[in-house]
Amino acid sequence: MAASLYLYWRDRYPDCLFVLVSRAPISYDVRSQDLVLKCDLSQPDQKNILVQLLKDNQVSPDWTICCSGFLHDNLIKPEKSLTQFSIDNFMCNLQANLLVQIHLSQVLNLVLNKHKPAKFICLSARVSSISDNHLGGWHSYRMSKAALNMWLKNLAIEWQRKFPLHAVASLHPGTTDTKLSLPFQQNIKPDKLYAGTLTAERIDRVFNLLSLEDSGALLNWDGNKIAW
Ligand SMILES: NC(=O)c1ccc[n+]([C@@H]2O[C@H](COP(=O)([O-])OP(=O)(O)OC[C@H]3O[C@@H](n4cnc5c(N)ncnc54)[C@H](OP(=O)(O)O)[C@@H]3O)[C@@H](O)[C@H]2O)c1
Repeated sequence: MAASLYLYWRDRYPDCLFVLVSRAPISYDVRSQDLVLKCDLSQPDQKNILVQLLKDNQVSPDWTICCSGFLHDNLIKPEKSLTQFSIDNFMCNLQANLLVQIHLSQVLNLVLNKHKPAKFICLSARVSSISDNHLGGWHSYRMSKAALNMWLKNLAIEWQRKFPLHAVASLHPGTTDTKLSLPFQQNIKPDKLYAGTLTAERIDRVFNLLSLEDSGALLNWDGNKIAW
């Protein structure tokens, strides 16, 4: 999703500077003027690398999006029942779905400008909604995303004073054709599985619409609030 979003935004806002942060080397085409940083924000000691890059380039981001997330890999699958719960699974989910976002917030806390409007969105998931949970399962993913929503609500409150022009939200991007959704796509109706470009367009729209009144909310890709 990060690639689709960068390619969409690069064309839509050609005069903006983009800072791309990833653990792996970036495989898609990046403009020479944009900044690329190889950095694992799930590790607290790597925050300083990003802070330094932003300070060296005098960047106080107008918009920040965190696309990090984990649901499964070769070994770990989302739980179908409580017997499948494991600390390893839970910790992997917490790292990518919560710690990366907390560390990124701590980075922003050092570089944001109190007098400049700015926005920060982290990709969450509809399945993080407690009131909307009718199926159960996916314990670690649901819990880590629910914790992310709470983190962003707390951050919105804390930044009301420190960065009063900064809006924060968690966002359900819609089921999108990526590595994360791949094993579950056979259960999804074709018209409910969205291409990365469409999701990028929708995320752009949510960024443009996000207001200070919505700060701290969990939003759907169409901009409507999702009940917690
Ligand atoms: N795809 C969907 O249908 C869907 C639906 C609802 C919500 N979401 C959410 O949308 C976001 C983007 O998902 P996606 O579909 O683009 O998934 P993806 O293709 O698997 O990408 C997730 C990215 O998260 C980063 N990441 C994973 N584990 C990490 C870790 N331990 N530490 C640091 N970074 C880690 C990786 O970035 P790097 O390798 O570049 O570091 C990875 O490319 C996620 O938060 C996901 O939960 C997706």
